[in-house]
Amino acid sequence: MAALELPLTTPRLILREFVTTDLAAVRRYALDPRVLETVLHELRTEQELTTHFCGLLNARVTRPRHSFELAVENRRTGTVIGTCELTKSPGGIGEIGYMLGYRHWGRGYATEIAHALCDAAFSQMKLGRVRAMIATNNEASRRVLVKTGLQWASLRRRHAQAKGRWWDCEEYEILRTDWLKRTTA
Ligand SMILES: CC(C)(COP(=O)(O)OP(=O)(O)OC[C@H]1O[C@@H](n2cnc3c(N)ncnc32)[C@H](O)[C@@H]1OP(=O)(O)O)[C@@H](O)C(=O)NCCC(=O)NCCS
Repeated sequence: MAALELPLTTPRLILREFVTTDLAAVRRYALDPRVLETVLHELRTEQELTTHFCGLLNARVTRPRHSFELAVENRRTGTVIGTCELTKSPGGIGEIGYMLGYRHWGRGYATEIAHALCDAAFSQMKLGRVRAMIATNNEASRRVLVKTGLQWASLRRRHAQAKGRWWDCEEYEILRTDWLKRTTA
């Protein structure tokens, strides 16, 4: 049984499992150089993206399941505008991530997503801590995390190797107790 009951809903978005017909929408943002600039992975060809997409369709039936890579659907238009992820790591730690199509930036969607992922991590998966790793130059993502209540935890120098170079990263986190204080205050 999945440790996460889906879909997750926010005021403007649905975070749900991908379905086969989403691939065309994913191609529109996941290969866009503006979107990939701050993303620390190497999915840069159509073929790599298609292989990854097939893998995440298969992951829907994996048990036990620790990683949830989800489609972000705009509730009003029914359009898939991005991808988000919640992964359960050893030690009761949740890791979150998100990526949105360029034309959907700056409307508060990622903050809505991060809030929903944290809420699910703590209320459904009963995790003790949620963290996110960002490249040090990713100011938009840093702002999303801070608005969601995560705090700076560490600097990881040369943490990731991608796109032919090493990246310094920063870890942000929030503890379950702090999340509960924040959301029940
Ligand atoms: C990071 C990303 C998901 C943010 O999505 P979004 O929906 O635009 O985020 P929000 O609107 O919720 O919040 C963005 C905040 O960052 C701020 N911001 C954006 N660009 C900024 C910059 N260059 N410097 C400082 N702040 C910036 C915005 O003003 C906003 O803050 P505010 O509400 O206080 O004004 C989106 O830019 C994206 O998909 N980027 C590419 C993929 C990526 O980097 N993913 C994260 C990997 S860790």
